[in-house]
Amino acid sequence: MAFDLNSYLSDEQALINAEIDRMLPDSDGISRIVEAMRYSLLADGKRVRPILCIAAFRLVGGKTKDILPVACALEMIHTYSLIHDDLPAMDNDHLRRGKPTCHVMFDEATALLAGDALLTLAFETLSAPTLAVNRTAQWLEVIQTISKAAGFRGMIEGQMRDMHAEGSQLTLDALEVLHHLKTGALIRASVLAGAVVGGGCAEQIKNLEIYAQNLGLAFQITDDILNIEGDPHLMGKAAGTDALRCKNTYPVIMGLDEAKQYARTIIDRALKALENFDNRAQPLREIAQYILTRKR
Ligand code: IPE
Ligand code: IPE
Ligand code: MG
Ligand code: MG
Repeated sequence: MAFDLNSYLSDEQALINAEIDRMLPDSDGISRIVEAMRYSLLADGKRVRPILCIAAFRLVGGKTKDILPVACALEMIHTYSLIHDDLPAMDNDHLRRGKPTCHVMFDEATALLAGDALLTLAFETLSAPTLAVNRTAQWLEVIQTISKAAGFRGMIEGQMRDMHAEGSQLTLDALEVLHHLKTGALIRASVLAGAVVGGGCAEQIKNLEIYAQNLGLAFQITDDILNIEGDPHLMGKAAGTDALRCKNTYPVIMGLDEAKQYARTIIDRALKALENFDNRAQPLREIAQYILTRKR
């Protein structure tokens, strides 16, 4: 049967959402922090990072459900980064995932704490003793990869550079590094974590790393493009905001059409890295195309 990306994505999203819901149960309004965490985490995100993690895991032959907590932890880290990214001190956005941002719905202090709590819950989830039984070294490697990607060697450094460069013009090389840090690092870690837990060999992991690095860069270039010409109703977030904040983006530095062309080139590089895999790599191939053509 032909591969149907839309039903693949919605099946994976349902799987991830159910697991997230189970990990962070509704507190019936008793805990304001749980309410805020659930508000942002269970909102309508695309779940790209957990989906990539599970797809890489399956590609290298992973079969158990062990990957689900890892996938959910990645989504928790990503959601925390969005909550903080939207704060007035950062991008000051009011709409996210089709709803008021966390600090607008609750308040700034709650949004800060909800982000902190999601980040901590991710590592609580990753370090659950039952997961690491009989394979401590492999599990530590995964935790190390994810924490480096989320921290000051990865996403945080990228966010810092993004803020710091507002209003000044970066070189293309500097912007590429920024995008790799801000967005690419967690996407790379998502794919690598899946491949490591799935028991991938060194060559598979190397190729998947090249795939993920290119995908991560293309993902942020597409985000930059959508910020210019995307439909806020489809995206569930505002458009036009990068220009308002004088952000450094690919369309600003190289032009809109050139940025689209460059994203295509980068996706081709990602696809090339999958050449040695058989048709079990089809989900990752289709996801790469989707990253380029997505409307949200
Ligand atoms: C938005 O990420 C922020 C970036 C890193 C570009 P997504 O586009 O994955 O947002 P959600 O998770 O679907 O809301
Ligand atoms: C968000 O980047 C990156 C992280 C949250 C780490 P952007 O600020 O460009 O993404 P959007 O457009 O707000 O989703
Ligand atoms: Mg930002
Ligand atoms: Mg932002």
